[in-house]
Amino acid sequence: MTEHDSIELVVERREPAAEDVVVLTLRHRLGAPLPPWEPGAHVDLLLAPGLERQYSLCGDPADRAGWRIAVLREPDGRGGSAHVHRRLGPGATVRARGPRNRFPLEPAPRYRFVAGGIGITPILPMLAAAEAAGADWTLLYGGRTRASMAFAGELSRYGGRVTLVPENEAGPLDLPAALDGLPPGGLVYCCGPGRLLDAVARRCPAGVLRVERFSPAEHDTGTDGDFEVVLARSGRTLRVPPDVSVLDTVRAAGVQVLYSCTEGTCGTCETDVLEGEPDHRDSVLTEDERAAGETMLICVSRCRGPRLVLDL
Ligand code: FES
Repeated sequence: MTEHDSIELVVERREPAAEDVVVLTLRHRLGAPLPPWEPGAHVDLLLAPGLERQYSLCGDPADRAGWRIAVLREPDGRGGSAHVHRRLGPGATVRARGPRNRFPLEPAPRYRFVAGGIGITPILPMLAAAEAAGADWTLLYGGRTRASMAFAGELSRYGGRVTLVPENEAGPLDLPAALDGLPPGGLVYCCGPGRLLDAVARRCPAGVLRVERFSPAEHDTGTDGDFEVVLARSGRTLRVPPDVSVLDTVRAAGVQVLYSCTEGTCGTCETDVLEGEPDHRDSVLTEDERAAGETMLICVSRCRGPRLVLDL
């Protein structure tokens, strides 16, 4: 991935937000206004060569001078959070790309928000937007312990709309109480660990749930076969072997494509499908987008038939 279109940021402030969570306030290194964003958006931080990570923006979209992100240190992670915690102190610089929004807040008269752990970050600006729009909303926010739950103090301004559930005090989240009986027109927004997202999905009627996953969904890859990809712009045909992604296949052929996470969670590699039926393996597209089959995330998704034609 190149640094194409990236901007250089400087860490203005770094504050603890909870156990193992730091909040960074980032400004443009030259003091210029930052690109606009809306609740649900994330940025790619280019932490080091080969080390890119996505972080949700959790500040105020009206503040064009500063972006705020919160980063959980994950001891068993792949190095991104450790790098942020170790290296990004006040005055440090880092390049960023974006913002991009694959988790937009759609207009609705009522919302049920559900957050698990650091999944509170994209939800936070959504609450402010829902409040400003006069929507009827509630947040159910779970964490391991009270001390591990970022922004608990900030959320207290919303009073009874917010229910904090530290698991060691109150047990697991009461999803039926939060979700059952949502009147027509309501939407559920959920961000957190995969098992929470799956549990919420089981309680929601079709079309109501919007989610953002931080970790990739699991898929059985044991029966993957090979298939052909036709690159419509050049007419070239490439064979995608069972254990190689479409992204790696087209890159190996010298085609420039944008990508970032390579695990189907960030949305950067979304590509238009002109013919063929994608086998969607990402955590980004909605049910409707999957059914339409007009785009696919080529870092993880494959083909249900023998051939795909892509707008590349
Ligand atoms: S590169 Fe992130 S979804 Fe494909």
